[in-house]
Amino acid sequence: MTKLSPSVLSADLANLAKECASIESDGADLIHLDVMDGNFVPNITFGAPVIKWARHAAKIPFDVHLMIEEPIRYIEDFAAAGADIITVHYEACRDIEATIDKIHECGKKAGVSVKPCTPVDKLYPLLDKMDMALVMTVEPGFGGQGLIPETLPKIKALKNEITRRGLKIPIEVDGGIKADNIANVAEYGAEIFVAGSSVFGEQNRAKAMSKLRMAIINSKKQRKSIR
Ligand code: DX5
Ligand code: ZN
Repeated sequence: MTKLSPSVLSADLANLAKECASIESDGADLIHLDVMDGNFVPNITFGAPVIKWARHAAKIPFDVHLMIEEPIRYIEDFAAAGADIITVHYEACRDIEATIDKIHECGKKAGVSVKPCTPVDKLYPLLDKMDMALVMTVEPGFGGQGLIPETLPKIKALKNEITRRGLKIPIEVDGGIKADNIANVAEYGAEIFVAGSSVFGEQNRAKAMSKLRMAIINSKKQRKSIR
């Protein structure tokens, strides 16, 4: 099922709680929170205390994307702050399996993400442990960048591997998702779509989200009628 996870990176971060409540009532499925440490990525955002104070404002799952070095050090903090899905970067963990175990010990869902240049087969040995896979479609660190088309075949390869093994792990994509490319990305096998500037950057966010959903529905209809 298609799910939209608007990224608060493009929201008014000084009013994060308000923004979370408002995007929930506008119809978001999840809320994507980008945590950056200025080390793993060249940008700094916010940490667990900020998430904790926003958590009460919405009921939908908090989809926390940790772009930080050695995230294992902070998993307990993000779990206690109210994260529902905690996604770590494959490239940022010395012991990725221990990091996933830690997320599960804290009772949360574990996602693992790969940057555009990291081969997606690095995730294959971890699939049995993972609850979600995040394929970055831009270099992590900033909102508003253009989707890198070379990342798309990675989604398809990962989807094939997940299906071949009879697993049910949703693939999330993050970066440069817009109404004019979302249907194409969905065809590669993505199910959860992070959208920052194309949702929070719009005046009417409910309309922006329905545009994204409609783009997928219309292209599915079109494909059916061609067949
Ligand atoms: C980038 C972040 C994204 C970002 C996406 O490192 O992980 O979640 O907010 O922004 P857009 O949708 O504007 O590319
Ligand atoms: Zn993100």
